[in-house]
Amino acid sequence: MAEEILYQLTRADLNKGLRGVPIGTCRTSRVDPEAGVSYVGYPIQDLAFYDPEAVVYLLLERELPDEAQLTAFKADLRARGPMDPGVLQVLEALPREGHPMEWLCVGLITLGMLSKTGDYAQDARNVIAWAPELIAAIFRIRSGWGPPRTSEPQRGLIENFVHLLGVPGADDAKLVRLLRTFYVLHLDHGGGNLSTFTGKAVASALTDLYSSLAAAMAGLYGPLHGRANQDCLAFVRRVGTSDPGAVEAFVRRELASGGKIFGFGHAVLRAEDPRATIEYALGEEICPDDPTFAVARTLREVAVRVLKEHPKISNPYPNVDAVSGSLLNAVGLTDPDYYTALFGLSRITGIATQIVDERLRFRDGKGVPLYRPKYIAEDQPQR
Ligand code: MLT
Repeated sequence: MAEEILYQLTRADLNKGLRGVPIGTCRTSRVDPEAGVSYVGYPIQDLAFYDPEAVVYLLLERELPDEAQLTAFKADLRARGPMDPGVLQVLEALPREGHPMEWLCVGLITLGMLSKTGDYAQDARNVIAWAPELIAAIFRIRSGWGPPRTSEPQRGLIENFVHLLGVPGADDAKLVRLLRTFYVLHLDHGGGNLSTFTGKAVASALTDLYSSLAAAMAGLYGPLHGRANQDCLAFVRRVGTSDPGAVEAFVRRELASGGKIFGFGHAVLRAEDPRATIEYALGEEICPDDPTFAVARTLREVAVRVLKEHPKISNPYPNVDAVSGSLLNAVGLTDPDYYTALFGLSRITGIATQIVDERLRFRDGKGVPLYRPKYIAEDQPQR
């Protein structure tokens, strides 16, 4: 039987970062250009307010847990105990000038040195259980909020994270409300986003999970990928007004001078990102009068209208980053430098799950072989 042709490569596809070229399968999530992301068949809208641990279980086990399964899964995460405290000594020694994502890469590698088992499935569950502790310690040590707090995993993954953060002056109930949904929304986004792809490629050398995740987080750190959420808040702050006329003038000025409208457009999506739709609705609930959120709300209307006038812009709609920073800011996480680490807290789970699939499940358990795409040599002098 003739093999199905999925894609015909031409020379025009070269040096384009594999954009749109199928190279594998993904069992955790699907990204539809119009409908957005779904996890194991469930549209993200249906999962956004679920118990975060239930959605993690869904990605790991490909089904939503019943009550007994969820209780057992939470007990399993708790039983993994606290993260090795040796990681904290390394974090204490890091330069404060380093970005939180640089700290996260070091933290993951260190955690691997101290705690890896070499079993991708066990390491995935361990890292899911310990990531809140690691990332909260990065916040506290780097921003000088005080020594890391003791983990209380019986509170639940996000509730424990908020306790571990101890954000000065914040309303913890609102933080929990926002971060539970933020965590679910950012868990996974298909197989080909840069950080996920990188993590899987590195793991294909049979590199351990922690180092593979550190490589993935180095990808997420880039301003064209996860760090865009940090830059979006800076952009919203620069707009500085929620008056529609003034916002429109700002957007037009930016475009005329070759600037970017941060938070709009996406590599795959061609409609408003449903994760953004959920975040706007959440903002109306938790911070409707917040001035920064008001700017983001106006941008949603005005920027889309102006961007639509440009026929070359394939997606004029807001993505997940358009408003997430405004919400985090409104609930007391005011330093955008940390936003990508919050994205990482969540995405580590999706990447770890996909690495487990590629290493232990695909090709009847043989795993995906070492990534080795072909590069065509350009004309080179004979020597
Ligand atoms: C996202 O969450 O939107 C991504 O990681 C970016 C992508 O899908 O390429």
